[in-house]
Amino acid sequence: MPNNALVTGVAGFIGSHLAERLVADGWNVRGVDSFTDYYPRTVKEGNLAKLRTESRFEFIEGDLNLVDLTKLLNGVEVVFHQAAQAGVRASWGQNFSAYLESNVAATQRLLEAAKGLPLRKFVFASSSSVYGDSDDLPLREESPLQPISPYGVTKLACEKLCYLYYRNFGVPVISLRYFTVYGPRQRPDMAFHRFIRWISAGHEVTVYGDGEQTRDFTYVADAVEATLLAAKSDLVGEVLNIGGGSQVTVGHVIQRIGEIVGREPRIVHEAPQHGDVRHTWADTTRAREMLGFRPKVDLEAGLRAQIAWQADNSPIGGAEWPL
Ligand code: UGA
Repeated sequence: MPNNALVTGVAGFIGSHLAERLVADGWNVRGVDSFTDYYPRTVKEGNLAKLRTESRFEFIEGDLNLVDLTKLLNGVEVVFHQAAQAGVRASWGQNFSAYLESNVAATQRLLEAAKGLPLRKFVFASSSSVYGDSDDLPLREESPLQPISPYGVTKLACEKLCYLYYRNFGVPVISLRYFTVYGPRQRPDMAFHRFIRWISAGHEVTVYGDGEQTRDFTYVADAVEATLLAAKSDLVGEVLNIGGGSQVTVGHVIQRIGEIVGREPRIVHEAPQHGDVRHTWADTTRAREMLGFRPKVDLEAGLRAQIAWQADNSPIGGAEWPL
């Protein structure tokens, strides 16, 4: 018996990889995306290209705040809610309304529609940004939740919404706190994508702050694997860290990209950005014990895969792309 999945944000970075994996594993996948203009539609169409050739994949273009969710969820057994207004540093000021709409309102609407349906699982894509700046490293799921970006606040609100729809109505939610995911198709506003683009073009590399900030970078195939394990598990009402185990400084990553592409990076330091946390480091004990999750792709292999992908795919062109 095939499984029927809904993947929201299917034209995005993680959503498109997840949908491809599901189809490869024999699932029927309905994907929805609204092509918000945070980055160009051409990039997202590129992410979708392979999926569009699959007979077990159905694509619906639409905004979760506007589409008929009863129709969208018809026959669905597992919801993978990946759609979001992403980006930590861009979530201030007037932009915040987009984060409220695409994250908080859309998630509430989807959960409301999921109420009473015979779903097996509702997997929510949360974020390491819910922790904020913590001295309590590595970050455990019980660590204090004190986001320092408006984006992080909306992701935390979504987690809480998931939990209350589980508590009140039995929606079988599980929230995954992904830690800075990278790899082929990484969003063009994210650090690795920019660094690779800039260094390959001999362009200056903008580093926010001193470059000594660290992230627990997670390769996209590992994030997808964890997501599938979560969908298949019996866990409900839980929150799990999903980290790749590659905790390094931004400066280290830039040097390594320079070595791999054979160019000396020309670094320009800019002021630290509001909303950026200093360090992330995931304690993944819970995901290991409860899901059997172990990341498989180390930073070196993952970086090489992303560099190779960017060399073959430059849908947005040149080093000067604004984000
Ligand atoms: C990433 C994603 O963008 C979020 O959507 C996600 O929710 C979050 O991970 C997460 O872990 O949950 P972030 O960690 O800021 O957020 O990822 P990058 O954009 O790859 O930035 C990594 C680091 O590089 C940050 O310290 C940032 O300040 C730095 N950076 C980024 C630069 O120094 N220069 C740049 O041009 C871009």
